[in-house]
Amino acid sequence: MRRTLLPILAFVVGLVGLCIAAFAVLAPKTQEGGTSSVGGPFTLTNQDGQRVTERDYAGRTHLVFFGFTHCPDVCPTTLQQIGDVLRALGPKGKDTRALFIAVDPERDTPEALKAYLASFDPRIVGLTGTPEEVSAAVKAYRAYVRKVPTKDGDYTMEHTALVYVMNGQNRFLNALNLARPPEEAAAELARML
Ligand code: NI
Repeated sequence: MRRTLLPILAFVVGLVGLCIAAFAVLAPKTQEGGTSSVGGPFTLTNQDGQRVTERDYAGRTHLVFFGFTHCPDVCPTTLQQIGDVLRALGPKGKDTRALFIAVDPERDTPEALKAYLASFDPRIVGLTGTPEEVSAAVKAYRAYVRKVPTKDGDYTMEHTALVYVMNGQNRFLNALNLARPPEEAAAELARML
């Protein structure tokens, strides 16, 4: 009896393990549910000085990106690319928002963000706050931010350059790959809107 049961038990355990593994791999890609591990509540101030929370952007798929206005290249390039993708969405992207969360609140006041973002697509919203508020948002999105002193006594910020696609329930759907023509990225994003 024991001899026949053991292989069956091993098979069942293996099957359950396989199902869990498959779920873990496929779960972050599911559009309907999304995953709750990335993203979360935040309270920040937008570039117009208004206090906002994640609930203000819930209800429809939106993008989230961390950066700072003194960023030499990655941020301006990414903001330009996000604008290209939003324009490539056409009328479908009319109400799509991209949240640019400032990781350098010391220098990135709402006014500084407003001036900086004037060069980019108006659907990109600048968000900043106290260092504690920004830290909470960084933590909620599991982003990485580090202040790095520069030779001239100034500083720069190392940060996650991921563009998060969040669904209407503020759940992470995918990271948007911008290293391709904007039309391609827009086509993928359109399927998640
Ligand atoms: Ni940057």
